[in-house]
Amino acid sequence: MPLIDIIAGARPNFMKIAAVIRSLDAHRSNGGNLRYRLIHTGQHYDARMSGDFFTQLGIPEPDINLEVGSGTQAEQTAAIMVRYEALLMQARSDLCLVVGDVTSTMACAIAAQKLCVPVAHVEAGIRSGDWTMPEEINRMVTDSITNWFFTTSEIANQNLRHAGVDEAHIHFVGNTMIDTLLTNMDRLRPPAFWSELDLRAGEYFVVTLHRPANVDAGGSFARLLAAIGEGTRGIPVVFPVHPRTAKTLAELPNLPANLRLVDPQPYLEFNYLVKHAKAVITDSGGITEETTVMGVPCLTLRDSTERPETVSMGTNELIGTDPAKLKPALDRLFAGQWKQGGIPEKWDGKTGERIVEVLANKLASKLA
Ligand code: UD1
Repeated sequence: MPLIDIIAGARPNFMKIAAVIRSLDAHRSNGGNLRYRLIHTGQHYDARMSGDFFTQLGIPEPDINLEVGSGTQAEQTAAIMVRYEALLMQARSDLCLVVGDVTSTMACAIAAQKLCVPVAHVEAGIRSGDWTMPEEINRMVTDSITNWFFTTSEIANQNLRHAGVDEAHIHFVGNTMIDTLLTNMDRLRPPAFWSELDLRAGEYFVVTLHRPANVDAGGSFARLLAAIGEGTRGIPVVFPVHPRTAKTLAELPNLPANLRLVDPQPYLEFNYLVKHAKAVITDSGGITEETTVMGVPCLTLRDSTERPETVSMGTNELIGTDPAKLKPALDRLFAGQWKQGGIPEKWDGKTGERIVEVLANKLASKLA
């Protein structure tokens, strides 16, 4: 029976693998023969960045934890490659399935392909064009050694075609993150601080910032926060603080008075906050997909996006990193002039099923 390694390393991976695992489990219950081994690289290791997501999303305990922990880009990449290679040499699998664009995605793809274990990449083909983002390097390297490409959009398909990928290897399946969002929509629940902070639906903002370009330098981060404080007109701004961001934030004096700093939130609480927010201000990529599906206005503090359909079709707008651009955008929001947006093709909750159907066909020849 074919054995698939499912790789998970960092927070944005977990909602994606949850959808694939649900569909693989359903496939097995219906008599299918695909087996999987869940491998956590340990890139994210805190309960708040990792464990809580496994519990809430019903992801089984990893079969193997490579426990690489924190480090520089090269240290993390190297540690993951060494440990995953050792595992494959000891117990080989038939396919390495990686998701998204984090360091674990690239590192495991390289280790697998060098041992001639084929690679499937979920969320293949997306590109920001910004080589200063480690994620863009991860996407490009991973896609250059991927065998089977599972894509979220026609734009991703085009990017792959332009890179010379054979059409037969591109599978436009939709968005696994949205599978997980739709599966859990009825389970979303307010965080414990909801009443303590006196939050009311539609009368607060959610902010998330963790990109090195925005948060690693104290001066520019402080100017960005001041612009957020000024543009949000005193209504609460809930800011779940990523560990990377916390380090710079701790050294900043004079934060805006309406900023409410909270810990990183588990999945159900975070998406409840997003669903009921007036708008989200973020430098994340994945969140722009969730706001698009929930119809919540989203202001992205980046100069580029690898998810252009969230702008052309969805509720997202690229504001850039210049703090002066934020207030005019927020003024439009307060004036009720934000676009409504629609939902991209195949973001329908059935992506995991489509992926498993392709995998079952591809791996059928490996029947035991
Ligand atoms: C990583 C991903 C990014 C993703 C983000 C979501 C890469 C290149 N980047 O960035 O795409 O959007 O995760 O969270 O893979 N830390 C903790 N606890 C943890 C994990 C990390 O305290 O559980 C600390 C680390 O020590 C480090 C910082 O957070 O100082 C950054 O972690 P790291 O995994 O290097 O990258 P992220 O910035 O989280």
